Amino acid sequence: MIPQAFLQELLNRVDIVEVVGRYVQLKKGGANFMGLCPFHNEKSPSFTVSPTKQFYHCFGCGAHGTAIGFLMEHAGLGFVEAVEDLARSAGLSVPRETPVGGAPAAAQQRQQTLGLVDVMTRASDYYRRQLRSAMPAIEYLKGRGLTGEIAAHFGLGYAPDGWQNLEAAFSDYRDDQLMEAGLVIESEKGERDGGSKRRYDRFRDRIMFPIRNTKGQVIAFGGRVLGAGEPKYLNSPETPLFSKGSELYGLFEARGGIREAGYALVVEGYMDVVALAQLGFPNAVATLGTACTPMHVQKLLRQTETVVFSFDGDAAGRRAARRALEACLPHADDNRSLKFLFLPTQHDPDSFVREYGTEAFAAEVAKAMPLSQFLISEVIAGKEMHQPEGRARALFEAKPMLQALPANALRGQILQALADRVGSSLEEVASLCELAAARRPGPWDKAPAKREKRRVVGTAHRALQNLLMYPSIGNDLTADETKLLQGVNYHAEIFEEVVQHCRDMGGEADFRFMSDRLRASPNSASYEDIFREILSFDENARDLLLFDPQDEAQVERREEQIRLRLAEVRSAIRKMHYDGLCEALEAIFKQGGLSPDELRRAAALSRERDELKRQLASAGTGGTSG
Ligand code: UTP
Ligand code: MN
Repeated sequence: MIPQAFLQELLNRVDIVEVVGRYVQLKKGGANFMGLCPFHNEKSPSFTVSPTKQFYHCFGCGAHGTAIGFLMEHAGLGFVEAVEDLARSAGLSVPRETPVGGAPAAAQQRQQTLGLVDVMTRASDYYRRQLRSAMPAIEYLKGRGLTGEIAAHFGLGYAPDGWQNLEAAFSDYRDDQLMEAGLVIESEKGERDGGSKRRYDRFRDRIMFPIRNTKGQVIAFGGRVLGAGEPKYLNSPETPLFSKGSELYGLFEARGGIREAGYALVVEGYMDVVALAQLGFPNAVATLGTACTPMHVQKLLRQTETVVFSFDGDAAGRRAARRALEACLPHADDNRSLKFLFLPTQHDPDSFVREYGTEAFAAEVAKAMPLSQFLISEVIAGKEMHQPEGRARALFEAKPMLQALPANALRGQILQALADRVGSSLEEVASLCELAAARRPGPWDKAPAKREKRRVVGTAHRALQNLLMYPSIGNDLTADETKLLQGVNYHAEIFEEVVQHCRDMGGEADFRFMSDRLRASPNSASYEDIFREILSFDENARDLLLFDPQDEAQVERREEQIRLRLAEVRSAIRKMHYDGLCEALEAIFKQGGLSPDELRRAAALSRERDELKRQLASAGTGGTSG
């Protein structure tokens, strides 16, 4: 865990205007800086960054946060990643409150990673320099219709022919890091002859495509032969920096394009990405010669809610699409749109656009098949749907896929459509597929999808708002109160999470950090409205953001607020508990024919309820509506 005091220190050290300014053009306007919001499309600026509050806020879409929050939202980083990133740029190292043992290993690993990034950057610079004078390579790229500008945008380079060219780029060609980074290969032969292992460059006489992570660091390469030759593409091996199951080629370069277009396009090849960027689709990314994984999908969904996958129209393309479909299932939330596009057999996106033009490709994108339709067509493909056996077989195949879907409206719709196709009822399909029970994690289910927005209203809403504004309240509750709050009907998960963050922040608990922390939560959508209300309407928001511990009047106001709101949270807890008891009792009595045990339980609940009612009435909050 990162100590709260360090986070405070970090935000004091970095300048949010500088951090945001790296990505957004900001202009000074009064005390604040303004710019076009990077999180939604707008023509006139409603995005403000306050150097005094060290906070940004968009009046258009409600985006808000500290420098940490900005990096999380903009670069799709996790909380810890964002903190590490900022710390690095401020020359601080992140201390950890970890039980003994874990920390040094992690620190060592970070050190190693940093070293490897250095090595990769150096190699990438070298390859780029080589391209300038390599006429055949330049001719090859030109022949594929690329301009120098696009080549520069993607940092394309050239690895010259020859066995040890990288000796020119590194002072020590025998450095272990060159091996770890996958830039060189060692042969056993030299050793067998009694010498040391012979070492040579992995990439020779190839066009080099640097693969960057979301921070823009080079973490791997893909190298293409200039003409015919095998293998056509050579990729970096898996290294501590690079895992092809989670990286996407072109994501760093495409982030702006994705935001602007409102969707990401997933293609199969390096060349497709670069060519599409050249031809008017700067929002394309590619998997790296592997099937699409849930991690890929999750990475994309941090940038956009709409993803269109493009595949070749042949059998291999169809198989790849099937894998992508499976990777998408756990992430298929109702607010998202995941689509599949099949090109004619002999085409990839690059060749398609060159033959038929940009508009034709845009038309293909527009009519891409939604996930639901693709799923259904997959399960009924090749089945004799006019026979009971065929229909049963279709259901059998649908089962694991339906189970991998979140239990949401889309799943309901797919169930309905499937039920119609097999001529049975929705309930029957649901029970055959064992969907009524809580969803078990499926094989594609590693990363939790963001949950849908759950409206938190009434008493719970106000309690949540108080806790978000003054998280120290979470630490002032008694153990009993905390337990009740974390078990509250409908919102247990939310309160549990919020209280946990209050605890983690301890005495330094602070609104701004709460907002950063909850951004990474699967429930983040449920908090957004509340943060928006606080920032736009609560008269204390200014104090929250501009808190000055030296200002006595402000300190007094804050203490007063905390007192009032703590009392409010306490009575809300009782009220919510009371409502929960009423509901439980109602359910018991509705059921009828109670066993003696159930009767005893009902009586106990009822006593507890009456006691609570008295307390509520004497506290002056009485009443049972809400
Ligand atoms: P393709 O063979 O479809 O190549 O491989 P392409 O992208 O159309 O390449 P161009 O247009 O001929 O230059 C698609 C992807 O599969 C991976 C690469 O990621 C490639 O972009 N691949 C392919 C390899 O990793 N190795 C290979 O030998 C071939
Ligand atoms: Mn191609």
